[in-house]
Amino acid sequence: MSNNSIDTLLSETRRFPPTAAFAENSVTAADIYEKAKADRLGFWADRARELHWHEPFTETLDWSNPPFAKWFADGRINVAYNCLDRHVLAGNGERVALHWEGEPGDSRSYTYAELTAEVKRAANVLLGLGIGQGDRVAIYMPLVPEAVIAMLAVARIGAVHSVIFGGFSSDSIRARVADANARLVITADGGWRKGKVFPLKDAVDAAIAPAEGEEPTSVTDVLVVRRGENDVQWTEGRDHWWHDAIAAAEPEHEAEGFEAENPLFILYTSGTTGKPKGILHTSGGYLTQTAFTHKSVFDLHPETDVYWCTADVGWVTGHSYVVYGPLANGATQVLYEGTPDTPHPGRWWEIVEKYGVSIFYTAPTAIRSFMKVGRQVPNTFDLSSLRVLGSVGEPINPEAWIWYREVIGGGETPIVDTWWQTETGAIMISALPGITEAKPGSAQTPIPGIVIDILGDDGTRVDPPRGGLLVVSEPWPSMLRGIWGDPDRFIETYWSKFSKDGVWKYFAGDGAHVDADGDITLLGRVDDVMNVSGHRLSTTEIESALVSHAIVAEAAVVGAADDTTGQAVVAFVILKSNQADAQTADEASALLRTHVADRIGAIARPKQVFIVAELPKTRSGKIMRRLLQDVAEGRAVGDTTTLADTSVMQIITDKIR
Ligand code: WT7
Repeated sequence: MSNNSIDTLLSETRRFPPTAAFAENSVTAADIYEKAKADRLGFWADRARELHWHEPFTETLDWSNPPFAKWFADGRINVAYNCLDRHVLAGNGERVALHWEGEPGDSRSYTYAELTAEVKRAANVLLGLGIGQGDRVAIYMPLVPEAVIAMLAVARIGAVHSVIFGGFSSDSIRARVADANARLVITADGGWRKGKVFPLKDAVDAAIAPAEGEEPTSVTDVLVVRRGENDVQWTEGRDHWWHDAIAAAEPEHEAEGFEAENPLFILYTSGTTGKPKGILHTSGGYLTQTAFTHKSVFDLHPETDVYWCTADVGWVTGHSYVVYGPLANGATQVLYEGTPDTPHPGRWWEIVEKYGVSIFYTAPTAIRSFMKVGRQVPNTFDLSSLRVLGSVGEPINPEAWIWYREVIGGGETPIVDTWWQTETGAIMISALPGITEAKPGSAQTPIPGIVIDILGDDGTRVDPPRGGLLVVSEPWPSMLRGIWGDPDRFIETYWSKFSKDGVWKYFAGDGAHVDADGDITLLGRVDDVMNVSGHRLSTTEIESALVSHAIVAEAAVVGAADDTTGQAVVAFVILKSNQADAQTADEASALLRTHVADRIGAIARPKQVFIVAELPKTRSGKIMRRLLQDVAEGRAVGDTTTLADTSVMQIITDKIR
C-alpha cells in the first residue's frame, strides 16, 4: 500500500456504532472480551464444549513442545458428525444446509438430513476404496455440493483432504499430490465458468500420468463427479463415476471419534520461496475457532439467517467459512458455482434477492469491481434482507467500505473486516457487529481469546499510534500445526523472527498500524508475497515459472498496486541473448504471460511482462524489487545508490515509458 493511502486510512474519522436493535439481538454479550481475558484457556475450553465430543477432553492446551501446539488433545471428536448428524439429532434435519446455484441457472438444495445421508454414502465409498484414517485425498472440483460432500466424507473417516483450487494447472496438482502422497483424487469432468464448461479431469489425468523417467504417482483411484458433461478420457480400474459409486454404497455410516489432533486437512499456500507450503490443520481446535468466529463475527442466528460466503472451497475461506464454521453452526447457506457477472452483471444481487441472504461475506476486490460498474446494477435488486456484511483477503479501503455499506447494505448494515490467514485457520481480528463501533478501513480488534501485538523490528511493542509488524503472541485453537513434511521450515518461517527466551511469537508477515484506541489497521505484506484479488502469490514462484521457459535468461516479479485487484503481477524479464531478435518484445511478453498461466494457473498470469535488458541489482547480486515496483506503479524511482550499476534504472524506465 502506498504512503498516500495509509494516510487516507488513518485520517478516517467516520464511526458507525451498531443500532440499538442490532446490539439488543446480538449473539455476543458485551462482556465477552473481559471474560476471555480473565481466563483465556477456560474461555476456549467453553467454546470447545459447545461442540459434540465423542470423549470429552480434560486438558485445554499442551504447549510443552512449542511451537507445536496440541489443543484438547485427550478428547475425541468427529468433525463431520458435528457438522451433520448433530443437527439432525437435535431436530433440525429439515433445515436447509445448502442452497446451491449453478452458473447456468440450475439449482439444488440439501437439508441437513439430506446432506448427512449423502456424506454417509460418500464415506462408505471412500472406505470401499481402501481410504482410512490419516490417508490423504486430493480434491479438485468446481463449486458444486459434491465438493462439500467430499470434504466432509474425508473428514468423517478421519482421512485428510487437500483441496486444490480448480483454477490451478496440472503442474500445480502434480506437485501437491506428490508432496502429500495422495492415493485418491476426487474431481469432476468439468465445471461452469463465464458461460462455458472448463475441463477439470483432463488436468488431473495429466497431473497423475507418470512423468518421463519418473516413478508413477501415488494415485491409484480417481472419483469423477459428472457436472460439465464434457468428454473425458477414462482409465478403467482407476477412474470411477461418483454417481455410480454413491448409488452402490451402503447408506449407513456411524461416525467414530478421532483424537482432537487428528489431521483434518492440508492446504497449500504460497510463501516467499518457489515451493508452496502445505499448511496443516487438525480437528478439535480448528472446529472450535471456526465455529465460534463464524457465529460471533457474523452474529449468526441459525434459525433465521441465510448466509453466503462467495469464496471457493479451494481457498481457506471456503474451508473455514463455507464448510466447517457454518455447518458446525447449523447455518443455512448459499453456494454459487460461477462468476459474479455471468450471465449479467447483477447475478450476485439476484441470488441475494432469490434466497433472502442476510449475511454476506466477500473480498474487497469484488466490491471494487462492482463499484466500477456502478450502483445502478445492485439498485435494481431487493437487498433489504442483508443485515451483516463481511470483508476478507486484503485491506479494504474506506471508499470501498462506505460504498459496500451504503449501496449493498442500504446504509445500515454493520461491516466486519476480518483479518486472518491460511495459517491462522480462522478469523483473528475483526469487529463484533453487535458490540464494536465500526471504523471504515480498519480490521480493529482481536477476537476474544486471541492475543495480537504490533512490534517494532527489535521485537518490542510499538507505542500507539504507530506501525510495525503483526504477531500473534499466544497460541490459538485453529493455529496451523505445521508445514506438511517440513518442521524446520515451519519454525523458520513463522517463529524464528521474534521468539526468544522461551517466549514464542508467531510472525504473520503483515505490517499493521495500531491507533490510540488500540484499533489495528492492516498495511499489507512485508515479504515477497503478493496479494492479487485476495489470493496469495509468491514472487519467487512466478519467477521460477518464467525462467523455466527456454527464451528467458532472468526474471524479476513485483506486485504493483492495482485499483481493482489490490495488487497485480508485473514481471521484468531478460531474454537469452540468442532470443532478442527471434520475436518482438510484444510477442515474447504474450508468450510468457500464457506460459505462467499454464505452469501455475490463470490467477498467476502476469498483468504485464516487460522485456528489459538489465535488472537492478545490488553489488552482492540481490535484485532490488522495490525499484521495479516504483516503475510498475508509475512513480519516480527511489534511491538507487546501492545498485552495482546506477544507470540500470534509467535504461529500464526509458524502455518502458
Ligand atoms: C493474507 C493471508 C484469510 C483468508 C483469505 C486470504 C491478507 C487477509 C485481510 C484483511 C488486510 C488481509 C494478509 C494475510 N489479508 N485478510 N481483512 N485485511 N489484509 O488468506 O491467502 O492465507 O492470505 O491475506 O496479508 O497475511 P491467505
